[in-house]
Amino acid sequence: KKVAIFASGSGSNFEKIMANIEAGYLDNIQVTGLYVDQADAYAIERAKRYAVPVYLFELKTFALKEQYEQAILARLKADKVEWLILAGYMKLIGPTLLKPYEGRILNIHPSLLPSFPGKDAIGQAVRYGCRVSGVTVHYVDVGMDTGTIIDQVACPVYADDTAESLQPRIQAIEYELYSRVIKNII
Ligand code: GRF
Repeated sequence: KKVAIFASGSGSNFEKIMANIEAGYLDNIQVTGLYVDQADAYAIERAKRYAVPVYLFELKTFALKEQYEQAILARLKADKVEWLILAGYMKLIGPTLLKPYEGRILNIHPSLLPSFPGKDAIGQAVRYGCRVSGVTVHYVDVGMDTGTIIDQVACPVYADDTAESLQPRIQAIEYELYSRVIKNII
């Protein structure tokens, strides 16, 4: 299946997916492009190690979000993309992209949803004093991290954890979980 990966920042989940394609584990998808909304996203550097085109669409260069998403949609359609994989894409998906791809957009989130949607989910869980947190992969709907949950993996939070100490353990879970879900669902 042809997929597009969306990222705004570091892109370590994107890179893990690419590595799992190279390793032959993810033999069900072909990545047509990395879609980024930030010109300084490190994900762009990571894409250079793989033969993946990078498409930069910056919201600020469009008058309306609808036009921004129309431009993205035109590119997706030209490449006959069937599924969207969000990997640290820091924008809500608007109706322009949601309608044609509803039920075929995945997102990964670093908490056990519905706890701690939105930004800094790892920090929120630590500050709350949670003893368990984890990772969720879900379908994307109009809301912020609200779509139907596909799978979750839990992770202990230790009494002396900080967001910085918990983050690598959460991300290690993400890398394994996301590829497994992508293999099973797409
Ligand atoms: C991940 O923690 C993911 O769950 C969240 O954004 C982060 C992206 O990290 N949606 P990276 O850019 O893949 O390193």
